Formats: sequence, C-alpha cells, structure tokens
Amino acid sequence: MTTAFALLLASVLFIIGIKLLASPKTARQGNRVAGLGMMIALLAALPQLHDSHGGGVSTWKWVLILAGLVLGLVVGAAGAYKVKMTAMPQMVALFNGAGGGAAALVAAIEFAHVTSGSSLTFVVSMLCAAMIGAVSLSGSIIAFFKLEGHFDKPVTYPSQQLLNGALFVISLLLALAMAAGSHSMVLMILFLLIALALGVLMVMPIGGADMPVVISLLNSFTGLAVAADGFAIDNVAMIIAGTLVGSSGTILTLAMCKAMNRPVTNVLFSAFGQTDAAGTAATATGSVKSVPADEAALLLGMAGRVVIVPGYGLAVAQAQHQVRQLADELAKKGVEVSFAIHPVAGRMPGHMNVLLAEADVPYDQLIEMETINPEMDRVDVCLVIGANDVVNPAAHEDKSSPIYGMPIIEAEKAGTVIVMKRSMGKGFAGIENALFLRDNCRMLFGDAKASLQELVTLVKAG
Ligand code: TAP
Repeated sequence: MTTAFALLLASVLFIIGIKLLASPKTARQGNRVAGLGMMIALLAALPQLHDSHGGGVSTWKWVLILAGLVLGLVVGAAGAYKVKMTAMPQMVALFNGAGGGAAALVAAIEFAHVTSGSSLTFVVSMLCAAMIGAVSLSGSIIAFFKLEGHFDKPVTYPSQQLLNGALFVISLLLALAMAAGSHSMVLMILFLLIALALGVLMVMPIGGADMPVVISLLNSFTGLAVAADGFAIDNVAMIIAGTLVGSSGTILTLAMCKAMNRPVTNVLFSAFGQTDAAGTAATATGSVKSVPADEAALLLGMAGRVVIVPGYGLAVAQAQHQVRQLADELAKKGVEVSFAIHPVAGRMPGHMNVLLAEADVPYDQLIEMETINPEMDRVDVCLVIGANDVVNPAAHEDKSSPIYGMPIIEAEKAGTVIVMKRSMGKGFAGIENALFLRDNCRMLFGDAKASLQELVTLVKAG
C-alpha cells in the first residue's frame, strides 16, 4: 500500500515536472520536481527487491545495488554539472541510450522468469521493451558520435532499406518463436543483437545535423520501452513515466520537423546534408555590402527599436554574455531591445532559450517568432547573429528551395538588417541566403564573440 502510494506520488510529480518544463521560467523547477519524483520511485522500489526465488536479497547483492546507485548518482550529477552548453545534445544522447539499455536489460532478465504459465501480455511487453530499448541504446551511441563530429556525414549504401527490412523480419520471427513458448536465452541474445544492429543501421544514414531530431525520436522509443517494462513487471510509475516520455518525445520530434517544414520520414530516410542542396543565389539579385563595426554601432545606438536574432553561430562562438552586454548598453541609451527566437534556431530544442538564460537575459525580452513577425516592419535594426537558415527569405519566396515552407523570422522587413557571421558560408541546410544581398542588409564579418565585444566597446563610447 505504501509502495503503491509512493509510486503514485512519483507519477504525479513526473506529470507536474513535465508541465513546468514547458516554459523557460519554470523549467529549472520542473527538473527538480521530476527529479524528486524519480528519487521517490527509486526509494519505493528498493524494499520490493527480491531474489529469483522470491526470497530476500543477499548482502553482497545489496552492496552491488547500492554501489550502482551511488555510481549512477555521481556520474549523472558530475556529467550534468560539467557539460558545456554546446555539448548538451551529446549528453542527452548518452543518458537516453543508458535508459534504453536499462529497459532492454530489465526485459532480458525478466525473460529468464518466463514459464509456460506466463501471460501473453507479460511476454509481449517484455519483448517490446527488449527490442525498442536495444534500438534506442545503439542508435543513441551512434547519435552521440555523430554529434561529436565522427562520421557525421550520412553513411549510405545500396539496399540499406532492404537489409534493415530483412533484419526486422528476422527479429519478428524470433519474437514470435519466443512468444509461442520457446524460452531459450540464446534466442533472446540473438534478438537483442539484431535490435542493436538495427539501431546502428537506422542512425548511420542520417546526417549529423539531424541528430537532435533523431535523439528526440529515440528518447520517445526509450519511454515506450520503459512503459513496456512497467507492464511486464507491474510497476505503475514506470508505465506512467514511460508513457510521458514516449508521448512528449513524439510531440517534440513532430514539432521540430514542423518547424523545419520536413516530414519525419524525410529526416529519417533522405540523408539530408549529404550533398549541397540547390541554392537560391542564381535567382537572387543585389550585392554583398559589408559594414565596419563603428558604423554598425552607430546604427544600433541611434535606433528606436532593435531586434536581435540569435542562431547557431552565436552558440558556436559562445557569445551569449557579450550579446547580453550589448543589449544592456543599448537599453541604457533608450533603445528598445528584444530577442526573436526561432523554434529550431541552433541545433537542439530550446537552444537559444538555454543559451540566453545562461547569460541572464530577462525572459520577457525573448519573443517568439509568431509574435515578432507582424512587428518586424516597425523595427529599425534587426541584428542577426550567427543565424542563417532561420532568416532565409527563400523559405517563403522560392518554391524550388529545400527549405520552402519553413516558417522564418522575417528579418528582411526591418529598416536595416545587420548580419554578423564570419564569411558568406552556408548554414545547416547548405543553401545560399538571398537576405545577405538585399539593399537593406549589411554584413559585419568576423567571429560573433569578437565582433560583439567590439560593438559593446563602441556603443559604450558612443
Ligand atoms: P544555421 O543556418 O546553421 O547558420 C549558422 C551560421 O552561423 C552559419 O551560416 C555560420 O556562417 C555562422 N557561424 C558559425 N560559427 C560562427 C561564429 N563563430 N561566429 C559567427 N557566425 C558563425 O543556423 P540557424 O539559422 O540557427 O538555423 C538552424 C538550422 O539547424 C536550421 O536549418 C534548422 O532546421 C537546423 N536544425 C535545428 C534543430 C534544432 S532542434 N534547433 C535540429 C536539427 C536541425 P559562417 O561560417 O560564415 O560564420
């Protein structure tokens, strides 16, 4: 009864936690609430432990369990404290892979308890958890390496879908044999190995830059595997937590795809980023006009309203503190400053929110794309920092563009656009940006951090 209540309480805390995560203002609190729920679930599970014959757990097994707990807590906490903001997707990939692996292990161990009297629900739940958890483990490890820059180009080869299909069919046949009553551990190990191979083969053909979407999808897989484990071992907290992760991961995956205007099948099967996509430069007119830093500082200082559009380059340059200083200096001069946040700016969900929150940019200065766009023609200066695709007008002007239909921040409508980047280099989508050639656009070339530092000094002095 006490255990049931504790698991229910943990589940309620998970739900409240995920609700709080929906806003940057309450996200930290949401993490703490969900963490508390996890701690309660963990403590509630400990007294339930028993050996394979239903008896008490031996002392050395307790030592192992506690050592595992301490190790997990230390590695998790140290990893989370030390990780750089730009390496966050890698860490999520690793943690997610660990969750999938744990779900697969629980299922494999439970398989040893299957008898001829076991219910079909138990066996099927366990097989699903083993399969999905193992795919998530190996897929997440590959995603981690791709994000680290290893084999980040899509790895494609002839008949890859055929091979994946054949492996999937073999694993289904193995699952059928096990569900029909074959309790051989050899079958289970083979089943797990095929699932691990499928995880690798599914992620290898996807480009490194699409990994955030892949991780979000694999995260939802892990959730489903945990929920399936929950059915198998009759644990309500695992069913609820797993379903929450599964559904929120799916919603996040679809939201990211929608914001990029790409169906999820395109992310998974098109090897996006393998070749340079068709550009829009051929149809664009105008010339590149660079602006010196002192002139840019003058334009900014004299503006009534400035909108800053941060992008991936700001994260690469780690220039979040400098951009905050610039916003503060401009505000001191009476300029109204806000930040326009595109949902897929950067490389992970909420990338810009997290980055700017780190520099203590007030939340009320962060304006979402839908809110800022109708106001862009009343903005004096739009300062685009390390963003490219998310301000590319080809998204609504050029039907042949690969990003056609993707919602963008309509920077081009501002009186003057100042774009800060190092060169005329392309963004994630690998296409030219006609905005840079517009009459009202000026390019401030250089690393975002160095250029921002210079702007801060000049605005202060001006
Ligand atoms: P991008 O289009 O990728 O452009 C980033 C720009 O930053 C580059 O053109 C680069 O130009 C510049 N840059 C790089 N390092 C810099 C530095 N140190 N200083 C100054 N500039 C620097 O970025 P975006 O506009 O944020 O768009 C994000 C893209 O990622 C979208 O296409 C989106 O679909 C995709 N994506 C996002 C997500 C999520 S969830 N956020 C997930 C998957 C894919 P230079 O080389 O010339 O400097």
